[in-house]
Amino acid sequence: MSYRVLSGIRATGKLHLGNYLGAIKGMIELQNNPDYETFYMVADAHTITTPFSVEELRQNRKEIIIDYLAAGLNPEKSTLFIQSQVPQHFELFFYFSSVTTIARMMHLPTYKEKVKQYPKNNTMALLNYPILMAADILLYKANLVPVGIDQEPHLEAAREIARKINQTYGTKFPEPKRFATKGEYIPSLTGEGKMSKSVEGSYINLTDSLDEIRKKIRAVPTATVSGGPIIGGIKTLFMLAEFFLPANLYQEFKEKYHNQTLKFIELKDALTEAIYQELRPFQEKRKQIATDLTFVEKVIKEGAEKARTVAQKTLDELKEKMGLN
Ligand code: TRP
Repeated sequence: MSYRVLSGIRATGKLHLGNYLGAIKGMIELQNNPDYETFYMVADAHTITTPFSVEELRQNRKEIIIDYLAAGLNPEKSTLFIQSQVPQHFELFFYFSSVTTIARMMHLPTYKEKVKQYPKNNTMALLNYPILMAADILLYKANLVPVGIDQEPHLEAAREIARKINQTYGTKFPEPKRFATKGEYIPSLTGEGKMSKSVEGSYINLTDSLDEIRKKIRAVPTATVSGGPIIGGIKTLFMLAEFFLPANLYQEFKEKYHNQTLKFIELKDALTEAIYQELRPFQEKRKQIATDLTFVEKVIKEGAEKARTVAQKTLDELKEKMGLN
């Protein structure tokens, strides 16, 4: 039995540690499991649902493919592609919109947040975001979606759409589930909320140098003395330490904290070093791949061709049942 997997990342800028631990690690794990057939895309059409720069978008969609390759996604094992190069996504999106109510879409917390963030950009594209995401996933009949926990409302919407379409037209779309990784929630360096591209000072980019990482980690707000409740920036530091430091060192820092003997700078510098060591192989591979753009172009072209073939088959099946073929 073979399962299908699909995931995507918006082309809004450089990838950060949250993307890496929350999504890419899961993407790699599933790619390397022979029971799964994996499709990973750059969600460039989703990028235009919020204000964006054309030049940056043009650059970023390729950068994300380079990031994927540098992180260990392998075009021999996974289909790597750019969403807008597979127009079937937009066709399936439209059919799906016929079983989705406006009220349901307006109710989504992700939609409400974006409207609050960009009040002048309350567009149909933004409202339609989850329907397009459902089309991304179901076009490949994906059962599993490695993404961060913040995407759960969108997956719930995708399951509802699959159910509704199946009931109405007798299709057999699977109800996709989220594939959770240990790093599904990476806290912000500001000590409030999650690490996010849209919050300045909250994230570490995968391409940050040792000095940049040190500067950002040192800026995490802490208390003047240790021993108090583990909240805010202190919580962020310990959550990151649990990820990146060896278990015994993590325990040691924690004990020191409770004994009120911890100097935050020691924890911060150990963490800086550990994060940098984790990112170094990625950064080296990325530099190398970025010099071979012919290879990158080839991956993109072949990925789109493979994706289009699978996508068209699903679309033909649905159109037949809907009386559109
Ligand atoms: N909404 C996702 C995010 O912001 C990006 C995305 C678009 C996606 N289409 C997808 C993720 C399909 C998984 C599957 O991270």
